[in-house]
Amino acid sequence: VQKTWAISGVDLHLDLHGTRVRAALEIALRDAVTTGRLAAGTRLPSTRALAADLGLARNTVAEAYGQLVAEGWLTARAGSGTRVAGRASPEGRASRGVAARSPVPPGGGPPPAARFDLRPGSPDVSAFPRAAWLSAARRALGGAPFSALDYGDPRGRIELRAELAGYLSRARGLRTSADRIVVCTGFAQALAVLCAALRGRGLARLAVERYGLPSVWETARAAGIETAWLDVDGDGAVIEALPSAGAVLLTPAHQFPLGVALSARRRAAIVAWAQAADGWVIEDDYDGEFRYDRHPLGAVQGLDPERVVYAGTASKTLAPGLRLAWLALPGALVDDVMAAKVLADRQSSAIDQLTLAELIRSGAYDRHVRRSRLTYRRRRDRLISSVPSPVRVSGIAAGLHALVELPVGVTEAEVVADGAARGLALEGLGAYAATAHDHGQALVVGYAKPPEHAFTGALARLVAVLSSG
Ligand SMILES: Cc1ncc(COP(=O)(O)O)c(C=O)c1O
Repeated sequence: VQKTWAISGVDLHLDLHGTRVRAALEIALRDAVTTGRLAAGTRLPSTRALAADLGLARNTVAEAYGQLVAEGWLTARAGSGTRVAGRASPEGRASRGVAARSPVPPGGGPPPAARFDLRPGSPDVSAFPRAAWLSAARRALGGAPFSALDYGDPRGRIELRAELAGYLSRARGLRTSADRIVVCTGFAQALAVLCAALRGRGLARLAVERYGLPSVWETARAAGIETAWLDVDGDGAVIEALPSAGAVLLTPAHQFPLGVALSARRRAAIVAWAQAADGWVIEDDYDGEFRYDRHPLGAVQGLDPERVVYAGTASKTLAPGLRLAWLALPGALVDDVMAAKVLADRQSSAIDQLTLAELIRSGAYDRHVRRSRLTYRRRRDRLISSVPSPVRVSGIAAGLHALVELPVGVTEAEVVADGAARGLALEGLGAYAATAHDHGQALVVGYAKPPEHAFTGALARLVAVLSSG
């Protein structure tokens, strides 16, 4: 169905595919603004008028406006309606993915700066243990042979792989050894080299949770691997109805973004599947160190080290900017993954690896993780006790983010836009839906992200947003 309407003499075309009316409306409006067809300052029709013109629900129009306000393309002020933002330009904006949904103001004009940020993905980087890192770096480099600075084993420095093997076994229950660990430049690269290796061995399809990180699906597809979707319920990924696939990627400790843990029964079942089907389980243990209420849930890898590929990262325990992550591999995959790592970048930075090895060896890494766990647990408790009553917080047993479930009738777009207007960056659950976003409207709140001094302000703004309307 095609609909055409005019705003200030500019014709806009709307392609309505099935039920995705709101997305189509957003696209038509965004397109008109980014191409300059709708000039800065142009006043848009009221939601009531446009809804009547197009035969849509008023809420649908309000949500589309809200999303574009959140993205900075439109501005909304009481009394002057909704207008095209000043000097909106497409330069420097991501064209898709999570970044495109962030409330980054268009170039020019005073930005409604997001002073506070509760989007998920990062720890509090202002708590990075600078002094401990510097002294570990000094010790590590001081004691390293010159050969450490030459080309070396593509798996990474033996000092780090040996420390990681010990750490992962005591902290996460892994059964592994230094010769099966490959240090990578973030989980991002770890997944890319793993996909390259598995594709080379004939893997055609990877099953993934249908709420997750879009970059994960894109990485698989870039390697020539198709994705198939798994539902997620209160026990984690639903693996009883596993689509035909040669491998499954899961976030068992704390599903990203829904926050549930994979139940013991499903852990056993997925490993039994891998054994029977000659398949692989990829375990993304991105925030496994952070568990608050129960005893630590060990990694699935411990159930079968020959079938489960474990992926860990320093992005949550230390800082994403380090770009340090690691794979603990089944013996059968080591050579292929090493070959893919050589092609990707030969090896990761030796000095950073030596430093992390020394940080772990000295106990400073464990101390930092313990301290962070206490801080984030306190923040999580404050989040839970602060949200107004019809709002529910779930996914709280672990990790650095929680799901803040909105009451019926309240949409993510409205809440994200309201947050942006108050200087608070928020992210809706819809940003992580691979298929229909049918889980209920919710925010994925990264409570670890603000620096300690800004957490109270961020939380107060979130509560204000959730209490209004
Ligand atoms: C689900 C998930 N996996 C892995 C990572 C870590 O990625 P990287 O190590 O590339 O920073 C993140 C970080 O945001 C994540 O959310």
